[in-house]
Amino acid sequence: MAETSSTSVAPKINVDLGDRSYPIFIGSGQLAAVGISRFIQGNKVLIVTNTTVAALYLSKLEDQLSDKQVDSIVLEDGEQFKSLETLNSIFSQLLENKHDRKTTLIALGGGVVGDITGFAAACYQRGVPFIQIPTTLLSQVDSSVGGKTAVNHPMGKNMIGAFYQPQAVIIDTDSLTTLPKREFSAGMAEVIKYGLISDAEFFTWLEENSDALMQGNQGALTYAIERSCLNKAKVVSADETEQGMRAILNLGHTFGHAMETFQNYSGWLHGEAVAAGMVMACELSMLRGALTKSEFDRAKQLIQRWDLPIAPPAEMRVDDFEQLMYRDKKVLDGQLRLVLLRSLGDAEVTADFTLGSLNSVLSSSCSAS
Ligand code: NAD
Ligand code: GLY
Repeated sequence: MAETSSTSVAPKINVDLGDRSYPIFIGSGQLAAVGISRFIQGNKVLIVTNTTVAALYLSKLEDQLSDKQVDSIVLEDGEQFKSLETLNSIFSQLLENKHDRKTTLIALGGGVVGDITGFAAACYQRGVPFIQIPTTLLSQVDSSVGGKTAVNHPMGKNMIGAFYQPQAVIIDTDSLTTLPKREFSAGMAEVIKYGLISDAEFFTWLEENSDALMQGNQGALTYAIERSCLNKAKVVSADETEQGMRAILNLGHTFGHAMETFQNYSGWLHGEAVAAGMVMACELSMLRGALTKSEFDRAKQLIQRWDLPIAPPAEMRVDDFEQLMYRDKKVLDGQLRLVLLRSLGDAEVTADFTLGSLNSVLSSSCSAS
């Protein structure tokens, strides 16, 4: 049995939310180094994971909790299991094993496990603590930070949920060694997003360091995750419940969600659809004079370098977009609002674009694929 670390490492980032603030630990070997028990008040823990991740990391996590009474639930792997039925199975497990209000839930897995565990924690006995241990790049740079938790409803993705912040986020970059390359690239779409929306210097760093990241350079990887989380933490601290500027985190998502819905969520990965959507948002930003042609080309080239799509699925037509985009949460009083760039590294949510320029982007993108 591995020893629980007595000399605890310091967090890289603090998400500043008053009495709901929490640390983010990032780096190689963090699962063993952090000393997870210090974030658990009671004696009991329920680890929520899935079949794929359990086989790889569940026993490593259990080893770190030898001073606690640990139960675990292993979910089926897939977005279709981010459902009310699965949520109920977590509640049943908690009740059957007599978990009380001092129990802590631990999410061990990607965004699917993180979102459902967070929502279970928000609801169980009106709220118990939870810890995020994200194991995909996407969950490490996006979903584990910021407290958006949810399950899907048959009528819509993430429709039942809550804002509920974790006690800590523990990002062990070693878990990325087992992640399929396609999943890693999908996570890179969200990393590139931070460069585009709020951090031009990071965008340039990504242009210069993509080769190192592709070769698995630990220093580069830790830096890219840290800088992404820092950018996200700043936005979340300023607008926790998305009353306004938090929506900039959705660059490319209105176009991307239209693509995912068109494919019935069984085609591209989320990050892949976001990548193509970000190219469309950048093109529209260029048409309104906020990006130069050379900046637009740089954005497209960086996305393409990660083998991510830069145009919608070939079967999609302009009228498919027109129908699907108006279902977006950013539509207000029937008016479509989009996240667009004011410059490279600065974004806003705005209706300040012409329908002519939007149609031009939709037409050129649909004919490019
Ligand atoms: P995922 O959780 O489905 O994980 C992708 C795949 O990788 C799964 O098959 C998983 O089992 C596997 N996997 C996970 N870790 C692994 C590892 N270390 N090695 C090998 N395989 C591993 O998908 P995701 O991309 O992590 O997350 C997508 C989900 O996140 C969606 O449900 C989306 O709605 C949600 N999301 C939430 C937020 C938020 O703010 N809460 C933000 C973005 C996305
Ligand atoms: N992933 C978008 C957000 O957390 O707001």
